[in-house]
Amino acid sequence: MASTPEKPATLSWTPPTPRSRVGITLETYILDGMMGSPAATGTFTSVLNTLSLGAKLITAHVRRAGLANLLGLTGQTNIQGEQVAKLDEEANEILLTVFGSRHHCAAVATEEMEQIVAFPKHDKGKYLVVFDPLDGSSNIDCNASIGTIFGVLRKAGDQAATEGDFFQKGRDLVAAGYVLYGSSTMLVITTGKSGVHGFTYDPTVGEFLLSHENIRTPQKGNTYSINEGNASRWTDDVTRWNQWIKGEDKESGRPYGQRYIGTLVADAHRTLLKGGVFAYPADKKSPTGKLRLLYEANPFAFILEAAGGKASTGRERILDIQPTALHQRVPLVLGSYEDVDAYEQFMRGER
Ligand code: AHG
Ligand code: MN
Ligand code: MN
Repeated sequence: MASTPEKPATLSWTPPTPRSRVGITLETYILDGMMGSPAATGTFTSVLNTLSLGAKLITAHVRRAGLANLLGLTGQTNIQGEQVAKLDEEANEILLTVFGSRHHCAAVATEEMEQIVAFPKHDKGKYLVVFDPLDGSSNIDCNASIGTIFGVLRKAGDQAATEGDFFQKGRDLVAAGYVLYGSSTMLVITTGKSGVHGFTYDPTVGEFLLSHENIRTPQKGNTYSINEGNASRWTDDVTRWNQWIKGEDKESGRPYGQRYIGTLVADAHRTLLKGGVFAYPADKKSPTGKLRLLYEANPFAFILEAAGGKASTGRERILDIQPTALHQRVPLVLGSYEDVDAYEQFMRGER
């Protein structure tokens, strides 16, 4: 009589119940479509992975800038008339190289170059990337936090990209994010609808690992961030807001603490996580503001709104501004919804 077939051995291994997604790599997070709809397409995933590669390469340069005598200035000035630090140039070269090596990105606009760079043979690329390769250049030589800022836009059609393709409102960004080279290197990214997520770089494995899933900005904070050195140049409404935020009033939690690093990525990152308000208003020296719309204000406005915060010029929502020039500057206030609201009330003369 045939013996009864051996019962198959039961699985002797039970997968660990996942505590959370913390610790998974950025690539896995994107591939698993957790960045929301556009990530579903392979080409979009490729663009985000290219950004991650660029961030890893720049991190390597930043972490040894002091040793590889990348400190100091090149002696040139960029189209903004600003002294170009070697690291600005290095970071710009790295991002041009990585985006030029994959055809999904048709063209880039970078703070360091007057014109767009439309990659030959990339005409069919469906995406455009804007970036500030190295933000906070004045802080490079004193080892204070610096960053990289990026935004991803769609490109229509198969013809070569033109400058006009970049003149899209910030609300039409497909993704935005930044890399903060601080005590650790952290990449923060959003596609707008599926939350804002932070990935911390682990140099031992060379990967960005999920560390801050679904960052939300508190509705109200307790710090304000502005360069007080510009006080004599401010308009009256900014001066009145500044006096108010420093006034004594227990009920509204004033005076707010003052924090200012002078690197937008660092000041905005702290404000994103802890709340409060960051402002770089227009003033007598910078009549349209200092920060650039395409690759500084728009990406951060997109991120803050995705995290429940707010971003405006003080009068107009940043993401609704129709760009008319690649390097145009705007006044910028961003942070907790209530704190930006209060700032805007001063700009409207309601306080
Ligand atoms: P970048 O280094 O890319 O030119 O940007 C510098 C910007 C921004 O990072 C920061 O918020 C602002 O400059 C600081 O300006 P002040 O030094 O005038 O305060
Ligand atoms: Mn910058
Ligand atoms: Mn820069």
